[in-house]
Amino acid sequence: MRTQVGIVGAGPAGLVLSHLLHLQGIESVVLESHRRDYVEQRIRAGVLEQGTVDLLVESGVGDRLKQEGLVHHGIELRFEGTGHRIDLTELTGGKSITIYAQHEVVKDVIDARLAANGQILFNAEALSLRDIDGNPSIYFTHKGVTQELACDFIAGCDGFHGICRPVIPSSVLRVHERIYPFAWLGILAQVPPASDELIYTYHERGFALLSMRSPEISRLYLQCSPEEDIANWSDDRIWDELRLRMATRDGWVLKDGPVLQKGITPMRSLVAQPMQFGKLFILGDAAHIVPPTGAKGLNLAVSDVRVLTGNMLTAHLESPAILLVDDVDAPPVPKRRQFLSQHSSRRTGLRDEFARSGDFAGRELRRPTF
Ligand code: FAD
Ligand code: PHB
Repeated sequence: MRTQVGIVGAGPAGLVLSHLLHLQGIESVVLESHRRDYVEQRIRAGVLEQGTVDLLVESGVGDRLKQEGLVHHGIELRFEGTGHRIDLTELTGGKSITIYAQHEVVKDVIDARLAANGQILFNAEALSLRDIDGNPSIYFTHKGVTQELACDFIAGCDGFHGICRPVIPSSVLRVHERIYPFAWLGILAQVPPASDELIYTYHERGFALLSMRSPEISRLYLQCSPEEDIANWSDDRIWDELRLRMATRDGWVLKDGPVLQKGITPMRSLVAQPMQFGKLFILGDAAHIVPPTGAKGLNLAVSDVRVLTGNMLTAHLESPAILLVDDVDAPPVPKRRQFLSQHSSRRTGLRDEFARSGDFAGRELRRPTF
């Protein structure tokens, strides 16, 4: 099998990349280790920034997003039982955020790719990458058979635990990491959101967040220990703790409802560089993780794709010789990535109770490379 760009992973990064490449007339094949229904139901992000919404709409996969997405113009920061509204639209000269679940974005882009006869192989696990400096290929298993996908470029969009980042030799790969001494216990609940906008609450018992997925479904988070066992958290205990942390002086009421899903997410920041090695690019969570506090991960993944398809990959496909240079400087992206990582880390520090240690961003990140 042969294609121009072999993409590992059908998360937001891999799918949006495949879609934008198609619009530029560049062929790709996406390999995804899970089943289609699994990736279309996986509960992850929910907050899309203006830039992400604009890109999805302008590239023709934003119809349902425009109809069903909830546009928010502000958020509430709650301290000592009192809310303080931050008017995002006013502060950003007219921008807003849109609440639309990540798995809905994934469904929309999968539909668009398949409608355009795009190739996404589900249940296809990438096992290894070969010859990323010369004639790259991906070895993968599909339907019990090991196959080779030869390509001009490989896009590692395989998330934090993927196989692509480790292919970059350890002598080249620099990883900046911070592990936080807390986690988030998240629930999805069948109850109308108790507020029209997101509420980030600071409380001495720990941080709490009210978010949503639709006018009928709430998404809520509680800061907890990373060692916490979800089995110790009955639905009643979760609602009691949320009520305690989110209580206001004026008697605001948090309504409860059936919990549809619950889980614990550890917190981590990680930035890997470079994001290009030979003919391999790493994008999204494969290259950087930010704690969910900043609601940035999906937005950064889409931003990576925007930059890569902006001109870099097209230029490389036209003149492959450029690829003899390993560290291509592309200042706008890394600076933004560096800033966002620091910013998310800082916001995590502001909102969650923990002793910050060390300089996560460090001086190294002031000289990042794609
Ligand atoms: P992923 O979504 O992880 O996709 C990687 C894909 O690669 C997966 O489908 C995986 O199955 C596949 N894969 C892995 N290895 C292989 C292999 N060997 N072969 C084939 N396929 C493989 N971000 C926001 O912007 N806003 C938010 O509100 C937000 N909230 C979040 C809340 C929570 C609880 C969590 C956990 C995350 C949140 N994020 C948020 C982060 C966001 O979900 C991620 O940043 C985003 O999923 C990254 O997309 P990706 O495509 O890079 O990686
Ligand atoms: C979410 O809805 O999942 C969400 C919202 C805001 C965040 C993080 C996660 O900061």
